[in-house]
Amino acid sequence: MPETIVLQVDRDGTPAAAIACAAALLRAGGLVAFPTETVYGLGADATTPAAVEGIFRAKERPHSDPLIVHLAERDALPSVARDIPDVAWELARRFWPGPLTLVLPRADRIPALVAAGGDTLGVRVPDHAVARALIRAAGVPVAAPSANRFTRTSPTTAAHVLADLDGRIDCVLDAGPCAVGVESTVLDLTVNPLRILRPGGVTLEALRVLIPDVRGPAEATERAASGGRAVDAIEVARAPGQMERHYAPRTRLIVFEGEGGQALDALRREAAAALARGERVGALLPDEETGTLDGLAVTVATLGPSADLGVISRRLYAALRELDEQRLDLILAHTFGREGLGLALWDRLRRAAGGELRMP
Ligand code: TXA
Ligand code: MG
Repeated sequence: MPETIVLQVDRDGTPAAAIACAAALLRAGGLVAFPTETVYGLGADATTPAAVEGIFRAKERPHSDPLIVHLAERDALPSVARDIPDVAWELARRFWPGPLTLVLPRADRIPALVAAGGDTLGVRVPDHAVARALIRAAGVPVAAPSANRFTRTSPTTAAHVLADLDGRIDCVLDAGPCAVGVESTVLDLTVNPLRILRPGGVTLEALRVLIPDVRGPAEATERAASGGRAVDAIEVARAPGQMERHYAPRTRLIVFEGEGGQALDALRREAAAALARGERVGALLPDEETGTLDGLAVTVATLGPSADLGVISRRLYAALRELDEQRLDLILAHTFGREGLGLALWDRLRRAAGGELRMP
């Protein structure tokens, strides 16, 4: 693999020459990382198996984990999916471009490799001018997982992409940090009632306005019902690629379930105990909670105001990476409820901690 080219572009998709260069690489079967509103994606021509194979190789991703196909326009949906129900068009009109991936029956034009061998396909129109200009210029649907090594923290800047994939991909389009910061919501339209496979940038509450009986992600609903214990193996099998360890830093991470006094007390106790063992400790906290650790030698990465889950989502992966680079022994964090973007944060923090949450 040649050196990875970094092309600076503005958020509006200029200069066109940079987009044209990246699009030519895609058309030639190359790998191009590009910004979306959620995280940076690692793109390849979705219609060409050899190009798609490159994604799995660069990320060291197993073929059992299906890729999302990205389109420039919602009207292109029938070029990658078939038997499209009315509800898909309603959702597309309401949420595209945006952080919602629809799982639909796969059209023959898209090779099975993209979809982990399955009959369905995840598809979305990203809300980022650079992404859409690139896909339009390439003239093909673009398969793109998050542009990180498999199981690691997703990239929200071009520097994050390079930290994981420099020398393994052809090009990165750098348009600065991503606005949403957590991945798209994945919604399965091939089941009844519709079900969220991965919570993300479009909230369950926003989907319920359009589809009142939409079901939340299996892990969240089953855990809630069983007091936080078992996860239904069959339900989890319906969501390929959603491993219990994912989005993870290298450093050990403990995440407490819940916010407020109890969670903070537990977090402080855990920090004090680890420091007493001679460990180096970090914490991910909203701005106004940093005082919790006063008097303890803990490296804190701030997430923004706790009242603004949008800011916290945007900051989460960058803050995790910052702490991961500090050669710590332990990182501590807590969840932010399960309402709105809190559900996506709950899911990512839990998986980043290897699938386990600590009750305070
Ligand atoms: O925001 C996003 O969705 C980002 C940006 C780049 O668009 N992409 C992303 O892709 O997060 P990736 O590959 O990291 O995650 C894709 C996940 C899979 O692991 C799987 O859980 C789900 O989406 N998925 C994709 N296609 C599916 C399908 N046909 N059936 C069920 N789940 C699918
Ligand atoms: Mg990913």
